[in-house]
Amino acid sequence: MTEDQNYREAAGSFGAVAAEYDRARPGYPEELVDALERLWGRGLKGARVLDVGAGTGIATRLLAARGADVVAVEPSPGMAAQFLASAPTLPLVRGGGDDLPFHDHSADLITYAQAFHWTYPERSVPEAVRVLRPGGAIAVWWNVHDDTVPWIRARDRRMAAALPARYSGYGGISSFTGHFEPAGLTVGRAVLHWERRVTVDHVLTDLTSRSYLASLTPEERAPVLAAEREAMLTEFPDGVVVEPFALDLTVAVTPS
Ligand SMILES: C[S@@+](CC[C@H](N)C(=O)[O-])C[C@H]1O[C@@H](n2cnc3c(N)ncnc32)[C@H](O)[C@@H]1O
Repeated sequence: MTEDQNYREAAGSFGAVAAEYDRARPGYPEELVDALERLWGRGLKGARVLDVGAGTGIATRLLAARGADVVAVEPSPGMAAQFLASAPTLPLVRGGGDDLPFHDHSADLITYAQAFHWTYPERSVPEAVRVLRPGGAIAVWWNVHDDTVPWIRARDRRMAAALPARYSGYGGISSFTGHFEPAGLTVGRAVLHWERRVTVDHVLTDLTSRSYLASLTPEERAPVLAAEREAMLTEFPDGVVVEPFALDLTVAVTPS
């Protein structure tokens, strides 16, 4: 399989683990929306927002709660079904970031919560610019495990050793966000540090929903998860984990 085929397979892997995803993935702190509004220079209230790669709606629900008029956009049937179960009152359109099913100049803000890396930026950036109104913005963010913390670094090493063809870690975002300035957008960035307190089982369910494990068969995945359970219980004998994140946000604003 080529690298691109591997990548596309991973992009389509979420549907089979949608319930685990919705249950165990970390959400986003309220400060994310504050930082987004500050970098954009506008408030979310009443703004027409497209949440692309909405998945099960974790970010969509946060945006709606802060007053956005938000439409979810999601290509995966499994993730879309979980979205409709978790957020039955919010609208969802089936589609992807490289070919947005929306009219020109019909949105104020387009968000990609942990989803922009699944698009091809040479297609998704011009698509977003086409759909945005003047002064509109693209917001992309990733909830990255904070690898300044030793147990996170140790887990990264274990995953890289167990899944050399699939696990690349968090390789930096510039290969994606580097497409914004050449397209004439004004770019701002903020990194927010936060943590959650969860059980080892919760962390393992979250891991199951990560593309590098979700794209394996259950038989291939089981020994990796068993080794991970053992390592985590050695590190956290009481079964409770404080999991640190660095939330990396980039906002790119179109000319007014
Ligand atoms: C890591 S999940 C993020 C889900 C959600 N935004 C969140 O914050 O939890 C990535 C999502 O991107 C979707 N996706 C895959 N390829 C995509 C594409 N080309 N355009 C938009 N979304 C895509 C996947 O189906 C999946 O639901």
